[in-house]
Amino acid sequence: MSNMLSGFMDWVNDRFPLKELWENHLTKYYAPKNLNFWYYFGSLAFLVLVIQIVTGIFLAMSYKPAADLAFGSVEYIMRDVNWGWLIRYMHSTGASFFFIVVYLHMFRALLYGSYKKPRELLWIVGMFIFVLLMAEAFLGYLLPWGQMSYWGAQVIISLFGAIPYIGEDLALWIRGDYVVSDVTLNRFFSFHVIAVPLILVGAVVIHLMALHHVGSNNPDGIEIKKKKGPDGVPLDGIPFHPYYTVKDLVGVAVFLIIFSIVVFYAPEMGGWFLERDNFLPADPLKTPEHIAPLWYFTPFYAILRAVPDKFLGVVAMGAAIVVLFLLPWLDRYQVKSIRYRGPVYRVALAVFVVSFIGLGYLGTIPATPVATFFARLFSVLYFLFFLLMPFYPRWDKVRPEPERVTK
Ligand code: HEM
Repeated sequence: MSNMLSGFMDWVNDRFPLKELWENHLTKYYAPKNLNFWYYFGSLAFLVLVIQIVTGIFLAMSYKPAADLAFGSVEYIMRDVNWGWLIRYMHSTGASFFFIVVYLHMFRALLYGSYKKPRELLWIVGMFIFVLLMAEAFLGYLLPWGQMSYWGAQVIISLFGAIPYIGEDLALWIRGDYVVSDVTLNRFFSFHVIAVPLILVGAVVIHLMALHHVGSNNPDGIEIKKKKGPDGVPLDGIPFHPYYTVKDLVGVAVFLIIFSIVVFYAPEMGGWFLERDNFLPADPLKTPEHIAPLWYFTPFYAILRAVPDKFLGVVAMGAAIVVLFLLPWLDRYQVKSIRYRGPVYRVALAVFVVSFIGLGYLGTIPATPVATFFARLFSVLYFLFFLLMPFYPRWDKVRPEPERVTK
């Protein structure tokens, strides 16, 4: 039996580089031996991507992308389709978990300077993935055709109207109609189920190719490829398989436990993962009192609302994302990891995290004068984190990096 199997594998390997791929990317791919908790989130992002694609395929079997049928078809999935409720809750919870995982994944880069040379492209591709994810979530949110779906899309598309000269025509072109309508729903469906996921998966493949070309950074921020043994293997590297496949499986198990608790016991998460108003069918004649996007958009939405002028608000919101792309060139530290940076970076990062979470909260509540004051304060702090970054090394006490990885 084992002879037959190895004969078959030889036959395959003569025709396809299976063994080569297996070795180059798993058994002979050497990752730093000190990867910690923060390195779980890349593989978890991949897991959520798979969950979203698989549950999405099953949802599409019963969903109807038409203004008069969409809301009812989602109710039908929830009540009549076998296991439909589970598939839908996995997909809606998966959307929020995607952002939790990806925000933590990005935060890790801020801790260890993972975007710095030679990983600038890896970071840029990651940022494209982030923008695609936001597009994918926004498009998908229109599909249940609830009140929030409808009015959320109306508000966001109308933002394009604020662009001088071309704005109104652009908004009309995106909607395909004078208001969000059946036409809009059809095109959003088409983009949500095929166009964006296709590009997203392609971008993830490029992300992983870039990662394997340069190798993972690590909590010490030193390049393990600089210190190799006589066999050419990095002294501080261990084979990805079996060491990190096993480590990542622990992450997967813990993740699935938390994910299942939410899916089975709190899929709406008190309105944070599924908004209450979205259980009402879309009504173009009745604007909800308080329109707010889901939590993962609210930091950027709060920046938009903090600026009094609509167009400048859109510019500020765009700039909040664009500035993230520039991170590899704004960060001028000689060392990568926060471990060897001083108090200036630590305080700046802490202030940034408080501002980002603060903005996220403020984006969910009505814009009262007090809320607007804090949104403006946090927006300024958000941008200052990046704009002052080139100067941090001058003010900070930087320690030398060790020769070899520590723990
Ligand atoms: C679908 C989304 C994504 C998937 C599946 C994914 C996958 C991965 C995987 C498997 C790794 C290696 C394991 C790890 O370091 O955790 C990784 C590393 C990395 N990713 Fe992502 N990623 C995604 C999104 C992003 C985003 C949005 C960014 C940033 C904007 C990003 C930036 C990075 C960086 C800088 C590294 C190298 C980190 C280091 O070596 O310290 N990724 N990614």
